Formats: sequence, structure tokens, C-alpha cells
Amino acid sequence: VVQEMSNFSPDMGELQGVTLLQGICDIWDTIYNFQARDGDIVVASYPKSGTTWMQEILDLIVLDGDVERSLRAPCFIKVPFLEMGHTSLEVADSMPSPRILKTHLPVQLVPPSFWEKDVKVVYVARNPKDCMVSYYYFHKMDQTMADPGNWEDFFSNFMSGKVTWGDWFDHVIGWWKAKDHHKILYIFYEDMIEDPRREILKVMKFLGKDFPEDVVQKILQHTSFKSMKNNPVVNFSCLPESVFDQSVTSFMRKGKL
Ligand code: A3P
Repeated sequence: VVQEMSNFSPDMGELQGVTLLQGICDIWDTIYNFQARDGDIVVASYPKSGTTWMQEILDLIVLDGDVERSLRAPCFIKVPFLEMGHTSLEVADSMPSPRILKTHLPVQLVPPSFWEKDVKVVYVARNPKDCMVSYYYFHKMDQTMADPGNWEDFFSNFMSGKVTWGDWFDHVIGWWKAKDHHKILYIFYEDMIEDPRREILKVMKFLGKDFPEDVVQKILQHTSFKSMKNNPVVNFSCLPESVFDQSVTSFMRKGKL
């Protein structure tokens, strides 16, 4: 998977009017025909909205709060990124159920098997200002993404949807509307910052789980910004500088509003 990430090209393409990495457009048929399974759990979001945070919360909930087991592999192996490439899809295929999968696709582009299998989706939305700032720094840090240019350039590209994974506004609105027709729990990053325990309980309920308070506290503690910043499973420190150059900015950059 790391090899595949290093080979990413920053070239951008377009699919049904949505700006995406050209690499995603090139293997679109494979991505779109992905076979979901009964019991799959999906974390969906626009980039930089707290996806990794939610991934870790979901993993711990599925593991009934077993922190030891949550350290088994880096987050991008534990939770395959649907549109990352063939290797990531192979990892997903070889995983036992229940799987947790990640996607940044806008709702109209997700594989139809998601809805055929009635998967549970947790969508995380973050306000566009913080999302945009985070995405700007991420472009500088992720060596496989295009140079964002100066802030003014990036700002106008973001506002016109000419960034990878397309228009923020269409993304959050599309998933908001879809929640009335599918099993989608819509969560806000800002609510997670305000009261992470409350939001974790919502996710637990959505997944049909109920834990005693000590387990909830364990999940809460393990998924705090401070813990995640120091956790090699989620802070991407295992990636070489040629992929994520964290001397530019850390992946766990600010973690605030
Ligand atoms: P900042 O760059 O604003 O700090 P994603 O996982 O979707 O790429 O989102 C990354 C953003 O979520 C980063 O925002 C990162 O710091 C923040 N984040 C990750 N884990 C977090 C946590 N446990 N608490 C708060 N924010 C977190």
C-alpha cells in the first residue's frame, strides 16, 4: 500500500463533473464495481474533516474497546481507503468481516453495492474554513499531491471545487440529503470537539453497541488528539518523507476549531 501511495501522481482528472486524482479516474471501473458485504461499516467524508479520528473511534467500537488490538496495523491497512488503488482494494477483499472502509467520494459516485448491501455509513463533516486550511497544509505535506500554490490560489480553487474530491459544498449537501434514504449517521467535527463522549455514544448506538462507562472512557482517551498525535498507528509516522513530509507540518496538525 505504501508503495502504491509513493507512486501516486498529482495529476487531476474529472469524473461526472467532479475533480479527482487522475489515478482514481484511471481505475474507475474497478472502484465503482467494488463489492460491499453485509455488515460493512464505511467512514465517508470530504478530506480533512476528521476521517482518521472517526476511523479510530469505529475500530475501537468494533473491537469492544480493545486498545491492544487497535495497535495491530497502521490506520490505512486497518481501514482500507476505497479509491486509493488496487492494493488497497485487495486488502479490503482479504479482510474478514466486519470491515471498516474509508472513502472521500461524493455520494453520487459511491459503488452501488454500498446501497445493495445496506452498509452503515458514518459521514463526518467539518466547517469549510478549517477544512480548507487543513487541506492547504496537507497539500504541502503530502508529496504526492499537487503544489497548492499560494493561499489565494488555493482559496479560489477550493471555492470553485477545483481541488481533489471536488466541491466541498456539493459533498456535504449530497451526503446530507442521502441520509434520509440510507443508513447514514451524519456527524460534525465541531460536535466531536465540543463533546467527544456524546458523539462516541451516538456512533456506538448506530452500530448497536453498548459499553460500560470504563470502556467508553478508554475509547475517549485513546482517540483524544494528544493520544492520536503520539500513536504511530494513526499519525502516519510510518510513511516515508517521500510520501508525507511531516517536517512541513504534522498530519495531526492542530486538531481544533
Ligand atoms: P488540522 O489539520 O486542522 O489539525 P482527516 O483525517 O480527514 O484527514 O482530517 C485531519 C484533521 O483532523 C486534521 O486537522 C487533524 O489534526 C484532525 N484530527 C485528527 N485526529 C484528531 C483528534 N483525535 N482530535 C481532533 N482533531 C483530530
